[in-house]
Amino acid sequence: MGIMRTKSIEQSIRDTEEPEFRLSKSLGPLDLTVFGIGVIIGTGLFVLTGEAAAGYAGPAIALSYVVAGLACALAALCYAEFASTVPVAGSAYTFSYAALGEFVAWLIGWDLILEFTLGAATVAKGWSGYFVSVFKGLGITVPPGLYAAEPDSAISHDWLAVLVILGMTVILVIGIKLSSQFNQVITAIKVLVTLFIIGFGVWFIDAANLTPFIPAPAPGEEAYGTALDAYLLPSILGIDTIYGITGIFTGAALVFFAYIGFDIVATTSEEARNPQRDIPIGIFASLGICTVLYILASVVFTGLRPYKELATAAPAATALENTPFPAAQLVVSAAILVGLTVVVMILMLGQSRVAFAMSRDNLLPRGLARVHPSFRTPYRITIITGIVASVLAFFLPLTTLGELVNIGTLSAFVLVSIGVLVLRRTRPDLPRAFRTPLVPAVPIAAASLCLFVMGFLTIGTWIRFLAWMALGVVIYFAYSRGHSRLGREGSSED
Ligand code: ALA
Repeated sequence: MGIMRTKSIEQSIRDTEEPEFRLSKSLGPLDLTVFGIGVIIGTGLFVLTGEAAAGYAGPAIALSYVVAGLACALAALCYAEFASTVPVAGSAYTFSYAALGEFVAWLIGWDLILEFTLGAATVAKGWSGYFVSVFKGLGITVPPGLYAAEPDSAISHDWLAVLVILGMTVILVIGIKLSSQFNQVITAIKVLVTLFIIGFGVWFIDAANLTPFIPAPAPGEEAYGTALDAYLLPSILGIDTIYGITGIFTGAALVFFAYIGFDIVATTSEEARNPQRDIPIGIFASLGICTVLYILASVVFTGLRPYKELATAAPAATALENTPFPAAQLVVSAAILVGLTVVVMILMLGQSRVAFAMSRDNLLPRGLARVHPSFRTPYRITIITGIVASVLAFFLPLTTLGELVNIGTLSAFVLVSIGVLVLRRTRPDLPRAFRTPLVPAVPIAAASLCLFVMGFLTIGTWIRFLAWMALGVVIYFAYSRGHSRLGREGSSED
């Protein structure tokens, strides 16, 4: 049984037709764009912008958004071709099963589990910060025991994050139709609040806060404690500093999190009415809109308040404190809180879709993929995801989680970009509703830029990521390879 066996695209599509494993097809292009924006704008913009501006980039965080946005745009051009060719659930996992063979598909699927489950945990921690901020605005102090670490303890115990994850688990088990409508209203609120922050905040910008736009480089060691907290590439190159040009890239590696989600549009291919046309529309529209909003909003945040003061659990509220209308903070925090709720939900939805596809292929136990007889949702996977994300959100700090999500997602982007090149060679005949332009230049640029950004994550993040991938390899050889449905039924390699 070869680890290079590929699942034919026709077979991938046929699998989705089995009634026991079929999802309902209800989403159009607008639904998909809204769905994309619904997951893209979240803890990245509303929390990590503050963290990254304060710790790494200063006002040049806007440039970090340009760098991370460029990496995503290039990867999106590759994603869109894949998604328009292989319209089945599972995102990059499914595409690579057809293009790169079972083992690489497994690795990508394993990456995506990291992206979605830890992503949900990360966003839930941002939710917790804004929850506290809303209550503070109402004059109520939330007991720190509900969300903060004990003094002298390295781990948190964030009950608020657990609360939101479990709530979303229940909604997802009940069904996507409900989730989709719920999502549209909340996404509208989130976009409006971002526009409000930009349009209202811009009047109160203090130019002094934005000068110098790129703060002078400072030695990095003061900023972090141990060798594991040092950044991989800067350490290797001996340019181990914060702020300055290096800071723009370390900032980019962190706020990359804010863009995560456009790839999730592709995980819903099976629920789209016309996936070949509409998935690329959903990907580009949502990514484009968010990029513009991020660059503008990050200028406003750092313009309102000195960047060093923005490393709080609710930086949007912190920034708006510096306007003459402090009530705006409350409204904005409440809207963000509602918006983040949906991000948690969609990340969990993405996770359930990927795991669904993996277990339908028997790479994960097949029983996991069974859909609920009346709700028609993969309820078993959803419940497991909810439990795992809750435990992680309860114990781990936000940036540790976020960086791990970023490295997993960036490496999936690298593999997808390479996958486009491979699939062009191996299956030139397939209809591609969307074709990546300038092949091979764009896929090569996408993979290189994503790898470069990964170099600006910490050594600790790299080690945790490699440990996760090593675990994936062990599971593949111990379980998945032997159980694979394709291995049993025959593949295009046999
Ligand atoms: N991009 C999403 C966020 O920023 C995951 O929360």
